[in-house]
Amino acid sequence: MDIAGPEILTPSWPEYSLLDSGGRRKLECFGDTVLIRGEPKAWWRADEAADWRQAVAEIKDAGGNWRLRGKAAPERQWVLSYGNVRLEARLTNGSKHVGIFPEQEPHWQWLEERLRRRWRPRVLNLFGYTGAASLVAAGAGAEVTHVDASKPALSWARHNQALSGLEDAPIRWLLDDAFKFVAREIRRGRRYDGILLDPPSFGRGPKGEIWKVENQIGTLIENLAELLNPEGLLILTLYNLEASSLMLSNLLQEHLQGGTLQFGELALREASKDRFLPLSLYARWEGANAND
Ligand SMILES: C[S@@+](CC[C@H](N)C(=O)[O-])C[C@H]1O[C@@H](n2cnc3c(N)ncnc32)[C@H](O)[C@@H]1O
Repeated sequence: MDIAGPEILTPSWPEYSLLDSGGRRKLECFGDTVLIRGEPKAWWRADEAADWRQAVAEIKDAGGNWRLRGKAAPERQWVLSYGNVRLEARLTNGSKHVGIFPEQEPHWQWLEERLRRRWRPRVLNLFGYTGAASLVAAGAGAEVTHVDASKPALSWARHNQALSGLEDAPIRWLLDDAFKFVAREIRRGRRYDGILLDPPSFGRGPKGEIWKVENQIGTLIENLAELLNPEGLLILTLYNLEASSLMLSNLLQEHLQGGTLQFGELALREASKDRFLPLSLYARWEGANAND
C-alpha cells in the first residue's frame, strides 16, 4: 500500500470563507451571510483588524439558539451552490450547524473526479446528514445509498435533491442505523464502488441504537471492507474526538489491501492570514487499478 500523510486539506469553495477565528469563536461567510459560531478549537486570539460586527447572526447560548443582528434581519434559509448541486443553509434554533460542513469540500472534489471516470458506480454514504456528498456523487453519475438516523436530516437532504434538479437521480434515502444497515448489506451480498462515512463520536440510530465511535469503528471498517470493491474508494472522517489521523490510517491499513492511502486533517484557512482552523481528521483510500 502506498501511504501519504499527514496532509492538511482545505476547501477552495467560493461560496464559503472563514474570515477570522479566536476566543473560541469563528467568523465565517456562507454565500453572502456572515455568521458567528462557537468554535472550541479556536484557542488563540481573534485578529484585531477583523470586523466581527458585520455578522448578521450569532449563536447566543449553549443550546444553539441564534440571535439575529444588524439592521435588516437575515433570511433564516438561503441556498449555496457547489457545481450543479444546491445546498440550503438554515439557521435553526437548537442547532449551531447550518446544514453544510464546508471543510468536507476537498472530499467532494476527490470523490467527484474519481466517480466521473467510472460507469454507474455505486456509492454508500453513511451518517450522510443533509446529503452534500450524496448529491455530488449522484451528479457525477453514481447510484447512491444514503443512510442517516435523523428524519429531519433526511427530509432536508431530499429538499437539497429537488433544489439541485436531481429528482430523477438514483438515490435511496434510508432512515436506518448505519452499523446495523452495513451488517444487513453484507448478508445480502451487496457491493459498493465508493463508501463515505463521517460518524459522530456518539449518536443514536432511529430505534435508539447506540453508536459510540471508539467501541464500534473497528468492526464497522472491517465490515465495510467486505462491502467495498477491491478497486473502490473509501473516505473516513471523524470530528469532535481526541484522536489522531494516524489512528484512522492504521485502521484502514488493517482492513484494506494494496492501493493508495492518504490521511491527515481537514481544516479551514482564514481568508486574511495564514492561520488554519483544524476541524476533522480523515483517511481516504483508493484501490489499486482504480484509475485504469
Ligand atoms: C455531522 S453529520 C455528518 C456530516 C456529513 N458528512 C456532511 O458533510 O454533511 C452526522 C450524522 O450522523 C447521523 N447519525 C448519528 N448516529 C447515527 C446512527 N447510529 N446511524 C446513522 N446515522 C447516525 C446524524 O443524524 C447526523 O446526520
